[in-house]
Amino acid sequence: MKIAMIGTGYVGLVSGVCFSDFGHEVICVDKDPGKIERLRAGEVPIFEPGLEALMAKNVSAGRLSFTLDLAEAVAGADAVFIAVGTPTRRGDGHADLTYVMAAAEEIGRALTGYAVIVTKSTVPVGTNRKVAEAAAAANPDAKFDVASNPEFLREGAAIDDFMRPDRVVVGVESKRARKVMADVYRPLFLREFPVVYTGLESAEMIKYAANAFLATKITFINEIAALCEKVGADIKDVSKGMGMDGRIGNKFLHAGPGYGGSCFPKDTMALARIGQDHAVPMQITETVIKVNNEIKRRMIDKIVDLCDGSLNGKTIAVLGVTFKPNTDDMRDAPSLTIVPALVGGGAKVRVVDPQGQREGEALLPGVKWVDSPYQAAHGADLVVLLTEWNEFRALDLSKLAKKMVTPRMADLRNIYSLEEATEAGFETYVAVGR
Ligand SMILES: NC(=O)c1ccc[n+]([C@@H]2O[C@H](COP(=O)([O-])OP(=O)(O)OC[C@H]3O[C@@H](n4cnc5c(N)ncnc54)[C@H](O)[C@@H]3O)[C@@H](O)[C@H]2O)c1
Repeated sequence: MKIAMIGTGYVGLVSGVCFSDFGHEVICVDKDPGKIERLRAGEVPIFEPGLEALMAKNVSAGRLSFTLDLAEAVAGADAVFIAVGTPTRRGDGHADLTYVMAAAEEIGRALTGYAVIVTKSTVPVGTNRKVAEAAAAANPDAKFDVASNPEFLREGAAIDDFMRPDRVVVGVESKRARKVMADVYRPLFLREFPVVYTGLESAEMIKYAANAFLATKITFINEIAALCEKVGADIKDVSKGMGMDGRIGNKFLHAGPGYGGSCFPKDTMALARIGQDHAVPMQITETVIKVNNEIKRRMIDKIVDLCDGSLNGKTIAVLGVTFKPNTDDMRDAPSLTIVPALVGGGAKVRVVDPQGQREGEALLPGVKWVDSPYQAAHGADLVVLLTEWNEFRALDLSKLAKKMVTPRMADLRNIYSLEEATEAGFETYVAVGR
């Protein structure tokens, strides 16, 4: 198969690299010349474990290449994937489809023979039909079908998720398009990973429903955690006891500082807007968005309490700012709400993150970036553990406490325990839901 992948971000690049590893011939396109230059030089512009090696392997096998020229990639392709961003549209919360529709038009103009235009970006219900209209309007002679193929990979585990998915969802309406999609995913199908074929609208809806459900699950446990703090229960025990119920499952039941990232915030908001547009308000999702914002604010209150009611003049060490470990992605990370509140309150904030500095520097003005947790804690009044990178899971707590003026910790990921922290010399240790 010949595949064109439009957009080389977290989804497009991983998908393109993995498809080439399946044996397909893949050309990845981006409109950002800097990205294409780096990719051609063998550099991966994002942090994603394992991606650089897999990319190098397939480039040297001659199956994977990169270009700025969309027309060159699309000519002769069997499938053209749209994997461009769909951020929140400024002002109204809808998904911004500018990039998707621009790509659809360009693809339409560039088609030379029959191809399937596949939308991998997360898009509102009805978008695949609009993609078809835009491509046809740009080139009335073009021969193509559209397919909806939402992506479920998680940053930080993206290659494994792509290569060993729980399922692949394909929305198609023609036999010909279904055959192309079956050929694209044949290596997964042969290894018995399920491929779910649906109509276009159902495939589009599956992605939003799945993300809204996961965001709800996280928010539910975060709200239960808040209650645990008041009634003397321990959320870790509660999550464990709940998660053992097969109907519930133990994933996404870890209490923390609220969800963030490149998907849940924008996708819950977009689903809420889609519901409003159709006069079927997504009341659960709307509440989840509200509660998640409150949870982030509660974290700030916790930190202020630990600073005896005033942040002014306090030195605070923040461990981890990316929205989760094993990624450099800072989009909608809880740190973007929490850290500015600390700086705004007059605290001197030191930040350490294994991969977050490159993105984070512009997003978190007024903080000092350091290289290690111990450097961050030196002379500090408080340590805030915000992202559970492995580097922060096995800290020498005694060493950390000794470096501090007042050894206090807000463990917003529930990595340590009161006993451990107290034994190590912390005078105060506060977690979430315990
Ligand atoms: N990031 C994730 O974990 C994830 C997971 C599942 C689904 N998604 C969805 O996948 C889509 C892409 O997300 P992402 O995180 O990879 O985005 P991203 O912002 O990292 O990457 C998008 C890329 O597309 C490029 N681009 C935009 N318009 C273009 C055009 N006309 N031609 C060529 N290149 C173009 C941009 O330059 C950018 O490099 C979104 O809809 C997102 O919701 C993301």
